[in-house]
Amino acid sequence: MASKVLLGFVWASALVAVAFAADPFAHFDWDVSYIHVSPLGVKQRVIAINGQFPGPIVNVTTNWNLVINVQNNLDEPFLLTWDGVQHRKNSWQDGVLGTTCPIPAGWNWTYQFQVKDQIGSFYYFPSLNFQRAAGGYGGIIINNRPVISVPFGTPDGDITIFIGDWYNHNHTDLRKKLDGGQELGMPDGVLINGKGPYQYNTTLVPNAYDYETINVNPGKTYRIRVHNVGVSTSLNFRIQNHNMLLVETEGTYTVQQNYTNLDIHVGQSYSFLVTMDQNASSDYYIVASPRFVNESIWAKVTGVAVLHYSNSKGKASGPLPDPPNDEYDKSFSMNQAKNIRMDWGEWTENSRGQYNKWDGVSRCTTQVFPGAWTAILVSLDNVGIWNIRTENLDTWYRGQEVYIRIVNPEITNKTELAQPDNTIYCGQLSDKQQPPVHHKGSSDSLIMGASVKLLTFLSLIASIAIFS
Ligand SMILES: *[C@@H]1O[C@H](CO)[C@@H](O)[C@H](O)[C@H]1NC(C)=O
Ligand SMILES: *[C@@H]1O[C@H](CO)[C@@H](O)[C@H](O)[C@H]1NC(C)=O
Ligand SMILES: *[C@@H]1O[C@H](CO)[C@@H](O)[C@H](O)[C@H]1NC(C)=O
Ligand SMILES: *[C@@H]1O[C@H](CO)[C@@H](O)[C@H](O)[C@H]1NC(C)=O
Ligand SMILES: *[C@@H]1O[C@H](CO)[C@@H](O)[C@H](O)[C@H]1NC(C)=O
Ligand SMILES: *[C@@H]1O[C@H](CO)[C@@H](O)[C@H](O)[C@H]1NC(C)=O
Ligand SMILES: *[C@@H]1O[C@H](CO)[C@@H](O)[C@H](O)[C@H]1NC(C)=O
Ligand SMILES: *[C@@H]1O[C@H](CO)[C@@H](O)[C@H](O)[C@H]1NC(C)=O
Repeated sequence: MASKVLLGFVWASALVAVAFAADPFAHFDWDVSYIHVSPLGVKQRVIAINGQFPGPIVNVTTNWNLVINVQNNLDEPFLLTWDGVQHRKNSWQDGVLGTTCPIPAGWNWTYQFQVKDQIGSFYYFPSLNFQRAAGGYGGIIINNRPVISVPFGTPDGDITIFIGDWYNHNHTDLRKKLDGGQELGMPDGVLINGKGPYQYNTTLVPNAYDYETINVNPGKTYRIRVHNVGVSTSLNFRIQNHNMLLVETEGTYTVQQNYTNLDIHVGQSYSFLVTMDQNASSDYYIVASPRFVNESIWAKVTGVAVLHYSNSKGKASGPLPDPPNDEYDKSFSMNQAKNIRMDWGEWTENSRGQYNKWDGVSRCTTQVFPGAWTAILVSLDNVGIWNIRTENLDTWYRGQEVYIRIVNPEITNKTELAQPDNTIYCGQLSDKQQPPVHHKGSSDSLIMGASVKLLTFLSLIASIAIFS
């Protein structure tokens, strides 16, 4: 079932194997608080997990049970969602309004769910209040059990890259703008792993920012997992002089195909295998540049990191590798999307007959091009209340989402887990809430949103506009 899930991870915590349903448990302790960083030269408060921005990577194996304590040390309610991770039978842990009440400031809340029947690359992020624009995200790697094979050899290394547009205004200021009916306008930059661009051109990048360096060894093949965690900008991702062999998107193995660049829309995750087969005469650029905009106006809004071979003979210099030359022609991007398996034109009832029913990919985030449509087959095999939404943060904030309640008429808890003991109550049920056991004072207000439990939506309108 398409939904969003969030995970936490504690570096120091051991993985404790317990005999419950024979599947191991992994425990994480997360402290969510603000730290100050200046990715684009402007000092701002971002949301860190255990002091890290981006947050730690949750590296687990399918069927494991995850237990994640989240201590909210922000000054506002917080909720993590686990993008695309299927916490089967357990929408209580989905971490979006409508299924889970926010963790009030100062409170500690524990998520517990099993990552079931799933392998691949995902990420977690804050689902409330535009907080994703301030960080709070991190990677989720779900490995295969040894008995399950995957369609490629074990890579020599595993690298996670977050790309995303970024504003020098913080998320509370951005929220105010949207509340006031304004658009957010052009972002101030694109961050790669929370860092500003490498100074490849002193006009376009006037300051020498701290930039991301990916260290590799010659001749080795790495699995590179790329997530677009931004607000709303589609990004073209490329690595100078290197082929990227696409192997997975959000838990589905794709037709394997080489790309020199690929469009990655907000909310999407891809894995590539990249072989370090160049002569390392210099470092190489890693680029994430905006798509479907006037690239000369947006040239400053480009993420640039560095791929550094251990035998590199010098710094990267010169122009960036070119983006696809199709500024306002979306067919390139659409062909890429269609190659990965998706149609174009006006959707009609007849289009139903043309759906790619046999090798459509299963994924949790799909793009809808302006004037085009994408059909989503949602298999209603997971009871509970689930959220279907646009991943573009500004339109999601303005309400572009829908909840569906999937019920099993049989009276059994075999298909839907019972409400967890630690459920937080809010909205119309807030009077059921007992004082928390663990909390650090600050604001205990539970007034958040409307009644968020037991919402029943009778109709499903899957109108998901990725482009506003
Ligand atoms: C965001 O910036 C404004 C000033 O522009 C400040 O008042 C506010 O406290 C900041 N919010 C955060 C979360 O840092
Ligand atoms: C994830 O864990 C596996 C097994 O514990 C390990 O082999 C692998 O290197 C880890 N990956 C990352 C990215 O830490
Ligand atoms: C830097 O970028 C500007 C603007 O695109 C361009 O005119 C200039 O030639 C570039 N400088 C170098 C050294 O490439
Ligand atoms: C992808 O490119 C590499 C060279 O970088 C080549 O060895 C490989 O066969 C290509 N794979 C496919 C599926 O085209
Ligand atoms: C390394 O590769 C580049 C680009 O393919 C080429 O221009 C350069 O001459 C090569 N350098 C050496 C030392 O082989
Ligand atoms: C992009 O913007 C520049 C500067 O405003 C303008 O000269 C150019 O015509 C625009 N390009 C397109 C394709 O609209
Ligand atoms: C399912 O219901 C039974 C009977 O009420 C109860 O004993 C059991 O603990 C429940 N299982 C779960 C996973 O909630
Ligand atoms: C959060 O709750 C968990 C489980 O009840 C507890 O182990 C942990 O110490 C608590 N953390 C804080 C900071 O209160």
